[in-house]
Amino acid sequence: MDSAAWNPAQYLKFGDARLRPGFELLARVGELPPGVLYDLGCGTGDHARAIAARWSERKLVALDHSPDMLRKAQGKPTPTNLSWLEADIAGWSAPEPAALIYSNATLHWLPDHARLFPHLLTQLVSGGVLAVQMPANFHEPSHTLIRELALEPRYRAKLGPLTGPGGSLRDDLVAAPEFYYGVMAPFASGGIDLWQTVYTTVLSGERPVLEWIKGSILRPTLDRLAEAERPAFEDELAARLAEAYPKRGDGITLFPFRRIFFVARR
Ligand SMILES: C[S@@+](CC[C@H](N)C(=O)[O-])C[C@H]1O[C@@H](n2cnc3c(N)ncnc32)[C@H](O)[C@@H]1O
Repeated sequence: MDSAAWNPAQYLKFGDARLRPGFELLARVGELPPGVLYDLGCGTGDHARAIAARWSERKLVALDHSPDMLRKAQGKPTPTNLSWLEADIAGWSAPEPAALIYSNATLHWLPDHARLFPHLLTQLVSGGVLAVQMPANFHEPSHTLIRELALEPRYRAKLGPLTGPGGSLRDDLVAAPEFYYGVMAPFASGGIDLWQTVYTTVLSGERPVLEWIKGSILRPTLDRLAEAERPAFEDELAARLAEAYPKRGDGITLFPFRRIFFVARR
């Protein structure tokens, strides 16, 4: 799915809350057999640094297709066992046998999970681990309200295609846990640890949910609009989001967000 125009500053506006699931995923990865470690869609590289520190004797390759994200990742000192790579996950195969394939908040951007997850598992050595976290909020207002607005007559011609095949506004980018268990089980004889968490994210400031989604799911939608069209779209969406996620008397907005995790062992 779509290009590499990520905005690291917008993404990291909610840094701690955005990065936390990735650290919680990493905490569930146990011992690893010999082999290379990979972080697919490493973004600003915070999890990659943690992986590199935990397995400091192992080679880790952290890849992303966004030059902006990689530039941000390279802005801090890089451990000697970690290398950054600009590459697309679509069509990726491990160049050297993998002990760990870790991917946080990325694989929902790639199509055909029935093919992708078995493919990733078969890149692992025996006992190797595939550790993945993806958002699963696609049926909640943070996502459905974008779709609704995109399909209204004034936006439909430009944004409607995003709700169709390959589009970022589809509601089935991430499937149910049963689906992932089913496609991975034949390739994960070491077992699958699979769970979901709903984070009640505590946000402050004006239009906080809009600001949150501007760093992720809303980005391809805004990219499709001309610059002059964006303010009206954002204003309308912000008003609808404010109804769905009302600001409390103390100025705080509580934003529930579901995520799916799994750690599968080959
Ligand atoms: C939401 S960010 C997550 C970044 C990081 N894993 C984290 O948890 O902070 C998604 C990242 O995936 C990258 N990405 C999306 N699709 C990709 C693809 N097909 N190939 C490589 N990177 C991709 C984006 O550039 C972005 O940096």
